[in-house]
Amino acid sequence: MEYIYLLYRSIPTFADFDDSDREILKTAVVNNAARGITGYLWRTGDQFFQALHGPMAEVDALYQKLIIDPRHQDVELLLRAFAPATSPFKNWSMGYDHFIDTELDLMPELDGSRPALSPERAVKVWDALVRAAESAMRFGSIQPIARAPQESERAYLERISDA
Ligand SMILES: Cc1cc2nc3c(=O)[nH]c(=O)nc-3n(C[C@H](O)[C@H](O)[C@H](O)COP(=O)(O)O)c2cc1C
Repeated sequence: MEYIYLLYRSIPTFADFDDSDREILKTAVVNNAARGITGYLWRTGDQFFQALHGPMAEVDALYQKLIIDPRHQDVELLLRAFAPATSPFKNWSMGYDHFIDTELDLMPELDGSRPALSPERAVKVWDALVRAAESAMRFGSIQPIARAPQESERAYLERISDA
């Protein structure tokens, strides 16, 4: 079976801390676990970056669904490449956290346009996302709906469903 990595960015429709992210995560955790997909969703006040890893057919099929989801707009594919079968996100079918886009010079311009990202920069964003995920898996996050270290998929789902 062939595996790929995929990274995209988009503009959230709803404000930060709106319940819609919790709904997205609930769907993502359940669906992805069933399809062998793992990944991480990063959010700022006005951007999403999502990293996905998994079987090529599953990740590509998910991306086709994602791009028509009205909970975000202007979905832009940044990276899609063959990957080893082992995921950098371990068993996290979907992690989630906030990130600071100024740190990576990823903030939008005043007119809302996003900085162009070359494939080389996209790889750097991917690497930063993987490092953030590794850190969250070890040390956690202060974001209330982020997954906690050692938290099982089931416990995480229950917690974000009750929140
Ligand atoms: C930013 C964002 C990230 C998403 N991530 C995932 C994901 O990782 N996995 C998933 O199955 N759906 C994800 N979704 C939801 C999909 O767009 C779609 O609603 C869902 O896959 C449909 O699932 P269904 O075919 O089971 O109804 C995401 C949506 C948004 C807006």
